[in-house]
Amino acid sequence: MLEIAGLSHRYADGHRAVEGVELHVASGELVSIVGPSGCGKSTLLRCVAGLQRPSEGRIAVGGRDVDGVPDDLAVVFQDYTRSLFPWLTVRDNVALPLRRRGLARAERRARAEETLAQVGLDSAAGRYPWQLSGGMQQRVAIARALAYRPALLLMDEPFGSVDAQTREDLEDLLLAVRGGGGGGPGGGSGGGPGGGCDGRGMTILLVTHDIDESVYVGDRVVVLTGAPGRVHSELRVELPAPRDQIGTRGLPEFVKLRAEVGRAVRRP
Ligand SMILES: Nc1ncnc2c1ncn2[C@@H]1O[C@H](COP(=O)(O)OP(=O)(O)OP(=O)(O)O)[C@@H](O)[C@H]1O
Ligand SMILES: [Mg+2]
Repeated sequence: MLEIAGLSHRYADGHRAVEGVELHVASGELVSIVGPSGCGKSTLLRCVAGLQRPSEGRIAVGGRDVDGVPDDLAVVFQDYTRSLFPWLTVRDNVALPLRRRGLARAERRARAEETLAQVGLDSAAGRYPWQLSGGMQQRVAIARALAYRPALLLMDEPFGSVDAQTREDLEDLLLAVRGGGGGGPGGGSGGGPGGGCDGRGMTILLVTHDIDESVYVGDRVVVLTGAPGRVHSELRVELPAPRDQIGTRGLPEFVKLRAEVGRAVRRP
C-alpha cells in the first residue's frame, strides 16, 4: 500500500529533517511512529501526503509514485486548530470532503452526524469550530478524517489535546473503524459509492508521543532516531484481538513491548 525508499528531506536552511527512511506498509496495517521531538515525524507525514516534495527518495501509494496529494487520503494534522474552516459549522466541516465521494447532500449530512456521535460530539454539530474547546476541535478533525473512510489515513499526534478517558475511547474507535467492517462509521464500504478503503480496511500511519498508545493500537511500531530521523528499529505487535484497554495493557507481552519501545526511544 505504501512504499517509502531512501527518503531524505533537507529544508531550505540546510536542516536535515529525515534521512534514508525505508518503510513498507501493507494494506490494512496500522503502523505507529514514535521518536523524539524534532526528529522529522511531521516532515515524513507531509512527504507521504504529497504536501512536501522530499529532497531524495521515493514514495509510492498503491504502487503509484506520490506526485501531489494522493486521491484516497485523509490527514489529521498535528496543528488541528488551523485545519478546520471557521466559517463552516462542525457538521459542514465533516461533511465537506464527502462531496468528493459523490454522496448526496442528505447522505453527507447523515454520515457527518454519525461520525460526530462516535467521537462524542453529536451535540456540537451545529456550532462553529471557534466555539469549541481545543480537545473538541481536535475531535472534529478526527471525525472529518474518519467520515471520509480513506484508503490511507495519516494521523499526527491526533489525540494530544483530549483527556485520558476520551483518548482511550478514540483509540478504540480507531481500532474499530480501521477494520473496514463492523463497528466503524457505517462499516466498510468496499470501495463502492461513498467508499474509500478496500475490503481490507484503512491503512493507517499514526504518529504519537505516547509509547503505550503506539503499542496498544499498532500492528507495528516504528521507532525513529533523533534528528535527522532514521528508522532505528521496528517492532511487530502481536497482541490478541480485540484489544481491550484494561486487559490488553495488563498482558505480559504488552508490558514487554512497551519496555522495548521505551528503550529504543531513549537510546536513539
Ligand atoms: N518548514 C521548515 N523549515 C525549516 N525547518 C523545518 C521546517 N519544518 C520543520 N523543520 C525542522 O525539521 C525538523 C523536524 O521537524 P518535524 O516537525 O518534522 O519534527 P517532529 O518529529 O514532527 O517533531 P514533534 O514531535 O515536535 O512534532 C525540526 O528540526 C524542525 O525545526
Ligand atoms: Mg510533529
